[in-house]
Amino acid sequence: MNHPQPPETSDKPLATGERLPKTELKDFGPEAVKEILAIAAKYPDKLAATLPALHIAQRDFGFVGLDAMKAVAKALSIPEGHVFGVASFYSMYQKHPVGRHHIQVCTNISCALRGAAKLLEKVSERTGVEPGAGPSADGEWSVEEVECLASCGSGPCLQVNHDIYDEDVDEAKLESILEGCKRGEYRAWAK
Ligand code: FES
Repeated sequence: MNHPQPPETSDKPLATGERLPKTELKDFGPEAVKEILAIAAKYPDKLAATLPALHIAQRDFGFVGLDAMKAVAKALSIPEGHVFGVASFYSMYQKHPVGRHHIQVCTNISCALRGAAKLLEKVSERTGVEPGAGPSADGEWSVEEVECLASCGSGPCLQVNHDIYDEDVDEAKLESILEGCKRGEYRAWAK
């Protein structure tokens, strides 16, 4: 029997032999290393700082590709394999480039019951980007279908970069969110 395939996301698993895209930045700057070491100093084991260090990597590199993972391993003096294992487990670390406005739409059950599929379709239509297929040619947009954004009681909801919109996002609200993006009203995804 043919089962429907889930849509690709920007966090889609790597195909055999596929390499992660390269970034311009190859290593952290001294400030970021200081920041990471200050976090690591709070724990008895440096491995415990892997998650926050990966967040810093995503902020500075734009996405968590191989270069970013290697930089985390180097900054913490921990094995690259450990960093790769952690980064590849968590879908919140983007392994591929995203647009300046990365829009995540929750399609989990509560949001699905309140029209999330329609919202995702609208986001895709208005940005011209299929979920998981971004970023757009102008680098402005990427769209990702995600699991719960932790606001199940008031969906459907979406997130633009680091800002969540969780109050019944309908078409009118989506328009005003996208207009706000064009005016640059949102926190940048990365540095
Ligand atoms: S199901 Fe959408 S936020 Fe939880």
